[in-house]
Amino acid sequence: MPAIDNNNALIIKDLHVSVEGREILKGVDLEIPKGEVHALMGPNGAGKSTLAYALLGRPGYEVTGGEAIFHGKNLLELPVDERAREGVFLAFQYPQEIPGLKVFHFLRSAYLAYKGLKVEEFSPMKFMNLLNEKLELLKMKEDFISRYLNEGFSGGEKKRMEILQMAVLEPEIAILDEPDSGLDIDAVRIVANGVNSLRGPERGILVITHYQRLLNYIKPDFVHILMDGKITKSGGPELAEELEETGYEVVEGIG
Ligand SMILES: Nc1ncnc2c1ncn2[C@@H]1O[C@H](COP(=O)(O)OP(=O)(O)O)[C@@H](O)[C@H]1O
Ligand SMILES: [Mg+2]
Repeated sequence: MPAIDNNNALIIKDLHVSVEGREILKGVDLEIPKGEVHALMGPNGAGKSTLAYALLGRPGYEVTGGEAIFHGKNLLELPVDERAREGVFLAFQYPQEIPGLKVFHFLRSAYLAYKGLKVEEFSPMKFMNLLNEKLELLKMKEDFISRYLNEGFSGGEKKRMEILQMAVLEPEIAILDEPDSGLDIDAVRIVANGVNSLRGPERGILVITHYQRLLNYIKPDFVHILMDGKITKSGGPELAEELEETGYEVVEGIG
C-alpha cells in the first residue's frame, strides 16, 4: 500500500485519551485524506466526541499516547489556535452566545484569525463579498448574518451557523460532531447539502454520527465503527446500511 503523504491527510495513530483518569480512547488509528469523506459511527459513549475534543485540545481530555499528524506536525503538541491555523476545523467550535456580537463580525474575526490576517488587510467590504459567495453556495438567506450570534437560534440554525463558519474558513480537514443531532429531517437535509457543497479534492471531511440517516444524504467514501474506544470495523458506505439493519453489536460480531 502506498504511504499517504502527510501533507494531504490527517493521520491519527494509536491515539489514547483519558477523561478524569479513565481511558476512553484505547488506541485509535484513522486516516482522513483530502478529497475523501469519512464517517465515524458508534453507540453512545463509544468515545466519538472524545476523539473530536482531543483533536481540538479541549481541557479535561488528556492525550496519554499516540499522535495526529498533519502537514508533518503532530497537532496534539501544538497550541489549540495553531491546530486551527494548520487547517483543521472542528464544527462545534462556535462560541456561546455573546451578547451584542453579530454573526457577520464573529465570522470576520474568525476568518482573520484563521488566515493570520490583520484587520486592515481585509476590509469589511471584501469580507462581505466573500460571505455572500458562501451564503449563495449554501443557499442561506442574507438576513442570517445580521443576527446576534446564537441568540435565540434554533438547533437547526446553530448547525447552519457551523456549516457557514466552515464554508468561510475553508479548512483542509473538517470534523463535524453529530451535525444532525436534534434536527428534523428538513434541517438534516439542509445541513447535508451544506456539507456536500463543501466536498472537494482540497478538503477531507470526518462526519461523526450515531445514526445512519445522515449518511443517506452525505454519501461517505468510508465508514468506521468506534466501539468502546477502538475502531472495530472499517468499510465502504454499505457498512452504514448494514448497521441500520443489524445494530452495532451484531456488526461488531461479524468483524
Ligand atoms: N467531560 C467528561 N467528563 C466525564 N466523562 C466523560 C466526559 N466526556 C466523555 N466522558 C465519558 O467518556 C465516554 C465517551 O463519551 P463520548 O466521547 O461523549 O461518547 P460518544 O460521543 O461516542 O457518545 C463516556 O463514558 C462518557 O461518559
Ligand atoms: Mg458524542
